[in-house]
Amino acid sequence: MTESIGNSVGSGSRVDKQRILVIGAKGFLGTYAVQAAGDTFDVIRADRKCTGEPGSIELDIADASTVERVFRVIEPDCVLLLAAMSDIDRCERMPEQAFAVNARGAENIANVCARTRARLLFTSTAAVFDGCKDGYREEDAIAPLSVYGKTKAWAEDVVKALIPSAVVIRFALVLGFARKSGTNAMLDSVMGKWKAGEPVSFSTRETRNPIDAASLARLMITMLGDRQVSGLFHVGASDSVSRYELGRRLAARAGVSIDLVQPQGDPPPGRAPRGDNHFLLTEKIQRTFNFKVETCDQVIERCFS
Ligand SMILES: NC(=O)c1ccc[n+]([C@@H]2O[C@H](COP(=O)([O-])OP(=O)(O)OC[C@H]3O[C@@H](n4cnc5c(N)ncnc54)[C@H](OP(=O)(O)O)[C@@H]3O)[C@@H](O)[C@H]2O)c1
Repeated sequence: MTESIGNSVGSGSRVDKQRILVIGAKGFLGTYAVQAAGDTFDVIRADRKCTGEPGSIELDIADASTVERVFRVIEPDCVLLLAAMSDIDRCERMPEQAFAVNARGAENIANVCARTRARLLFTSTAAVFDGCKDGYREEDAIAPLSVYGKTKAWAEDVVKALIPSAVVIRFALVLGFARKSGTNAMLDSVMGKWKAGEPVSFSTRETRNPIDAASLARLMITMLGDRQVSGLFHVGASDSVSRYELGRRLAARAGVSIDLVQPQGDPPPGRAPRGDNHFLLTEKIQRTFNFKVETCDQVIERCFS
């Protein structure tokens, strides 16, 4: 295990701030979360492959003994669990691996958080729903269609059972630029294709209410810092649009020809099943946490500004 936790936190010394372990820090949302956490927390970044930079540590969440060891070394006050097999189609092709990471991995983290009383925020997905309903509240019954959705639903249950005070957030689609390859950021791959003059197909059937990565990261960090907050929350825009409409609006904002946005009706063969309507209703987070929910257009604008 490579570990390099830097002078400020080395040898068991603690700085004034509470310590947060961001797991999956090199991923799309992880990059934003690390930035958002910096003012409030002493941030330690955990990733499957660690290059030894200060403030980082290697951690495979599917390996329970490594999880235990990392928590003994780091002693986090708060944990943001972003690490996952996030590629829905890959999860469908590799269900055992998906379960090992998304379900058992989350269980490993929840177990050690419960034992050490570290505060946990777990990131889940609208894919726990089948997408047959026009708008989902937190209390609605889940019915995941994909392996990915099933692993996340399993993890939600285990997190809630082990740590009643944990925060679980579901979102349907995160927009933003990771500005590096190998993450789950949809905008990077779409813009890369558009810049090369390649058209991109977007589903006309699947509707989603997105949220931008920077706002979501700030929200998660604020929620972790407030120990009064617990339970399940939906986040996303106030309106839901089809992926095709979203593609058209993104192209318009990016100054890309609308000809490079192509409608796609039926999903291509081999794609994991996805619900059509993943519109997460957000009254609860607005009511209990005073979170300002934006429109899809405002979300898009935030990604580019
Ligand atoms: N982005 C979205 O639209 C969206 C929507 C709904 C929910 N979510 C959820 O939000 C969270 C963050 O997603 P994201 O978009 O930031 O995904 P991402 O870019 O794929 O980041 C996930 C990170 O997890 C790491 N990881 C994978 N397996 C691991 C393991 N066994 N141990 C430790 N780290 C591991 C990945 O590292 P490697 O690159 O080394 O595999 C990657 O850095 C995930 O839980 C995802 O399910 C995302």
